[in-house]
Amino acid sequence: MGLSDRTGTNPLFNENPLKLGIFGPNVSHGCAITTAPGALEVTWANTRRIAELADAAGFEALVPVARWKGFGGKTNFNGTCFETYTWAAGLAALTRRIAVFSTSHVPTVHPILAAKQATTIDHISGGRFALNIVCGWYQPEMEMFGAPIMPHDERYAYASEWVEVVRRLWTEAEEFDHEGRYFRINRGFHEPKPIQHPYPALMNAGGSEAGRHFTAKYCDMAFILLRQHDWDGARAQVDALRRLAKEEYGREIQVWSYGYVVCRPTHREAEEYLNFYVRERGDWEAVENLTRIIGVQSDVVDPDQLEAFKFHFIAGWGGYPLIGTPEEITEDLVKLHQVGLDGCLLSWVNYEDGIQQWRREVLPLMEQAGLRKPVTLL
Ligand SMILES: Cc1cc2nc3c(=O)[nH]c(=O)nc-3n(C[C@H](O)[C@H](O)[C@H](O)COP(=O)(O)O)c2cc1C
Repeated sequence: MGLSDRTGTNPLFNENPLKLGIFGPNVSHGCAITTAPGALEVTWANTRRIAELADAAGFEALVPVARWKGFGGKTNFNGTCFETYTWAAGLAALTRRIAVFSTSHVPTVHPILAAKQATTIDHISGGRFALNIVCGWYQPEMEMFGAPIMPHDERYAYASEWVEVVRRLWTEAEEFDHEGRYFRINRGFHEPKPIQHPYPALMNAGGSEAGRHFTAKYCDMAFILLRQHDWDGARAQVDALRRLAKEEYGREIQVWSYGYVVCRPTHREAEEYLNFYVRERGDWEAVENLTRIIGVQSDVVDPDQLEAFKFHFIAGWGGYPLIGTPEEITEDLVKLHQVGLDGCLLSWVNYEDGIQQWRREVLPLMEQAGLRKPVTLL
């Protein structure tokens, strides 16, 4: 297959006003820090089934979490997990139209290897690969690699050079030398080029100033943690990011966020289940470990908001709560679109049941609301 404009092969660039994806199907318990029955057990059969269901329902994105070590507690949350390039390669071969991401911790993989793996997955998938670039914040897992975690802003300086090398490999026809602060490349060479032109979509999920600038300068998509239920704040957050990309770097970017779903016939039943899996069955020890490190290592969440966030972290990694009937959830999705989001990744306690229910009960309402065009369900 020859080079193609990526809008033709990658559904991340389709026309749907609110695109959809799955977040965290490669890590144990996914995004829900709970011992409730039905939470994700990571086996290839399970992760494959989730990917195939999402593909069949016309979702646009499968986004894994990059993880090397769990967060302790009863669940050792996320501790059992698949490596994300090999995971994406397998799923690229098994799916037909969904974009398959890898989430790559830049300090753990040399840019020549990352570029090659990404290109290979882009070819396996026929131009549906995308790369979520993360710098690493969870000290114990980064230290497993034998080096201390870098100071915060330096992580993004490193990521910038990393992505510049990857982009040169993906796009330059001639061999090149690179002599930088972190990498020295002698006669860099890369063939074949990715199917997607100029190269696969890049995403970043940093919330700090350095992270926002990295996203605005290098990425096609920002993946953000949205302020809860504060629509004006959310709108300002999304606008500011787009403005930064436009005004400082002359670029257009997509902005995505994520939400956790509890969909039930009545609002009360949805709230009851949410309370059950968070308050009764939540792994509060794991969330304590997680938020303590997030508070210290990143600028995403204000320290004084951290307590309230524990509930939301257990419920779904601090994502936006999509709780209630299919109609109520659709109303929230309309608002998420109105604040300026291009896409939303979803998680459930039980992904398989959740995706099937979404396809039956929520997708038709999203179509009626003009958020998505009907697709051929596979
Ligand atoms: C939506 C979202 C998804 C993320 N996914 C991962 C991940 O899979 N692995 C990881 O190590 N960090 C992940 N992060 C953490 C960020 O990449 C980043 O390290 C963290 O937000 C700290 O950077 P900051 O201070 O620039 O916000 C995620 C963050 C957000 C908001």
